[in-house]
Amino acid sequence: MADTSLRRKLTVGSALGLILVTGCQAGDSTLPYAEAIGFISADLPDLHTRTVSVETDHSTVGYRYPVLGETHPLSLHVRTAMAERQTAFLEELPEGGSPELHQDTELLAASPDVIGLRLNVTDSGAEDTESSTLWYDGGSEQVLPWTSLFRDEQALVQAHLDLADVLRDDYDVATEDLPGRIGEVAAHAETEAEADEEEPQGEPTPTAVASDEEREALPPGDSDLTDPEQAGEVAELWADSPLADLAFSTAGGLAVRMDPADVPGAGRGEEALVPIEPEQAEETLSELGYQARDAAVQGNASPDALDLGAEATAEGTTLDCAELKCVALTFDDGPGEHTEALLDMLADYEAKATFYVLGSLVGEFPEVVERTAAEGHEVGNHTWKHDDLAGMSAEGVREDLARTDEAIEAVTGEAPVTMRPPYGSLNATVRSATGHPLILWDVDTMDWQSRDTKAVAGHALSESQAGSVVLFHDIHKSSVDAIPEVLDGLHRQGYHFVTVKDLFGLQGMEPGEVHTDGRLN
Ligand code: NI
Repeated sequence: MADTSLRRKLTVGSALGLILVTGCQAGDSTLPYAEAIGFISADLPDLHTRTVSVETDHSTVGYRYPVLGETHPLSLHVRTAMAERQTAFLEELPEGGSPELHQDTELLAASPDVIGLRLNVTDSGAEDTESSTLWYDGGSEQVLPWTSLFRDEQALVQAHLDLADVLRDDYDVATEDLPGRIGEVAAHAETEAEADEEEPQGEPTPTAVASDEEREALPPGDSDLTDPEQAGEVAELWADSPLADLAFSTAGGLAVRMDPADVPGAGRGEEALVPIEPEQAEETLSELGYQARDAAVQGNASPDALDLGAEATAEGTTLDCAELKCVALTFDDGPGEHTEALLDMLADYEAKATFYVLGSLVGEFPEVVERTAAEGHEVGNHTWKHDDLAGMSAEGVREDLARTDEAIEAVTGEAPVTMRPPYGSLNATVRSATGHPLILWDVDTMDWQSRDTKAVAGHALSESQAGSVVLFHDIHKSSVDAIPEVLDGLHRQGYHFVTVKDLFGLQGMEPGEVHTDGRLN
């Protein structure tokens, strides 16, 4: 199974990551050099990761994220962030060529208090890998950006000044040569100091190097960095800071990854690790920052202590579709003789779909239904033999749906969550008698009527929007034949293919509720 090979790969990568980056080989051995605590997943043998990767003739996109449990906030957050990035990449695809986007994570720290991840984004159209870190606070159960490692915005400025001092004092970098934000912060501090000397009552004059945007960012505001939203806004203001890709050093301070070109003599490799000593780091870190540092320095807790129990093996298909371009493809009236071919097509795009099956057919194709569920698709209830529920008594509706639920559960091990009434036909009796949310659709491909592959694909491609539920019938070969074009077209537009459960998941669905789509407005 794919999972095994992924875990093996992870272990090899972890073993390499465990070799601490030492300064011995770096440039001038008299210069200070941090030992960064890197990828420590080897100590977490039960950490599952999942890879979603799609290769087409116009692009290759892939991301890998840790599955910390089906609905763990960090898995959800990281995966959603990666899926958003993928959509942006696909929406900007050039006409020609076949660019690639790869996204991966490394574990930086793990304890019951905090889990830190480093996100690495490699875009074949860009020069460098973009990296940043994300932190899960076990106390508040929130996912926070790197800025939350600092006490407040003043501390954030101070950390940049500390870095400027190290570069000037230990690496002999002139103030005017300090790179990027470090240079801006240092120049601003100098200007302020001069202004204080010359006219103590006056406002500090903005420095020549600061653009309008930076002038807004300086002097520091008073955002609450324990609040994900505020900390996120501050992270955006400081997006190009080297501290965005912060690591802790084995000494208990910070190890700041910098471009060796900006720090002469500091390294010959691809990155220079500049230390901020523990005493200085402690002045600026927040409570979360301390916890993150301790988790990194002490190695990490056992998977049990992290509460990554049985759920950690879950497929983790959950995406936050309130934030994403999601679409739910649904297939009714099967299983049938074309369903397996359809499952193969969906697998090529890592697409998850929903199958509203008839209970009476489940026993005819048990392996197909079992495979459908095993591959992460949703199997929903479409009644026993396609009777119009609106013409039945409450008791009749209940019996029909229960019998179908049991047939599905007998094969998949899981009772269906959602149901779709045949013909979309329902009334108050149906709504109160069903124990399921009722799922209709907003895009009807009319496939049962046209039996025209081109027309079916045309409907799906032209009418789908973020949050759409698209109706097909997999008992028709003409419908199944349309799916490769539908998948490629929607993928090319940056859509993510999710189950109905995932489309509505975070907004919630109640039994008896009728939904046609997951659009938010
Ligand atoms: Ni039907």
